[in-house]
Amino acid sequence: MIYPLAYSTWGKEEVEAIQKVIDTDMYTMGKHVKQFEQEFANMFGSQNAIMVNSGSSANLLMLSLLKWKYKLTGDIIVPVVGWATTYFPIAQNGFKINFVDIDPNTWNIDVNKIEDAITPNTCAIMPVNLFGNSCEYSKIIEICNKHNLLLIEDNCESMGAKYNGLYTGTIGLAGSFSFFFSHHIQTMEGGMVLCTDDDDADYMRSMRAHGWVRELPDNSSLYQKTGNAFNDNFIFATPGYNIRPLEMSGAVGSVQLTKWNNIMETRLANKEYFFSLFANKPWCRIQKEIGESSWFTFGMVLDGELKGRRAEIIDALSKAGIQNRPLASRNFLKQPVMRDLDFIVSGQMTAADDIHDNGFFVGNGSKIINEPIDKLYEVISSFVK
Ligand SMILES: Cc1ncc(COP(=O)(O)O)c(C=O)c1O
Repeated sequence: MIYPLAYSTWGKEEVEAIQKVIDTDMYTMGKHVKQFEQEFANMFGSQNAIMVNSGSSANLLMLSLLKWKYKLTGDIIVPVVGWATTYFPIAQNGFKINFVDIDPNTWNIDVNKIEDAITPNTCAIMPVNLFGNSCEYSKIIEICNKHNLLLIEDNCESMGAKYNGLYTGTIGLAGSFSFFFSHHIQTMEGGMVLCTDDDDADYMRSMRAHGWVRELPDNSSLYQKTGNAFNDNFIFATPGYNIRPLEMSGAVGSVQLTKWNNIMETRLANKEYFFSLFANKPWCRIQKEIGESSWFTFGMVLDGELKGRRAEIIDALSKAGIQNRPLASRNFLKQPVMRDLDFIVSGQMTAADDIHDNGFFVGNGSKIINEPIDKLYEVISSFVK
């Protein structure tokens, strides 16, 4: 493989951090997770960070907050291109999934189609910041305010992206992050929710661990501790899960944050190189950046004379050792699981269909990859007359 989809961000420091946890003989969520949460919240200027065992669980917590604390019901607007576990927690919490097409250039939810999709039962919008790229939040916030909708962000692919100077994942009521291997920072498995409101944070901390109140401050609005641990440690105040992260993941997370500037510098340098070769070509469209993207991957949609030739190109890339994948979930309506989900579709999914048929992506990462990108260009441009 000359060009993998993802590169490790780890060095010996991460292995040492894990070893330190092992030496304490305490593997379950504890002080290292707490420290990482604090550092993460500080880095993003957010009031609260709640770590969980994956980005999918982070989405699950946000949707459970809307159902159980906010008592919302009805449908939730999402882009039709996201990730499977963008959508499943919506269904798992009893909401209907309300699909909207994407913008053909940004590949994020088409903000001009949201208002037409709103029903009398719409209660929230959950945009996905796809591949490091922010959504058009000024328009989305305007719609939320006008129609009294809550906003939560699936930001699992976009750590470090900004919109009008604000980090994505901090713009709505809550935002999710993933630290899976291919992501900006890597904690083996891992995820985070950021939120401003302390009561929301307490609710999600309780839901993260059995619904108990043990990790909450003494004076939480959810439960006033009595000071009697025998009692306080076994109070169940929310209908929770067990989606706690391991202590090793927290320890690795803190180390990963010390590498953040280098990780982003490298990703942005790769982006410049990728753009120098692929921008403004009549035979492909690359993602239009909104705000400041953190460039999770490099995607393209074949266009002009290459439209319809994806199968041959994917075959050539794979033979050349260039790993590739479809663009996220593609048009999720075409996935077989849709038969089990309760959903609404408003309008045509034209842009999603185009990336479904003509899109793919290759990797970006914390390593300068000019040579692999050269090879990518060589293989694809060999199909151009
Ligand atoms: C948009 C989006 N949401 C959610 C997830 C789930 O994250 P995880 O793999 O950590 O469960 C992913 C995973 O890549 C994702 O891309």
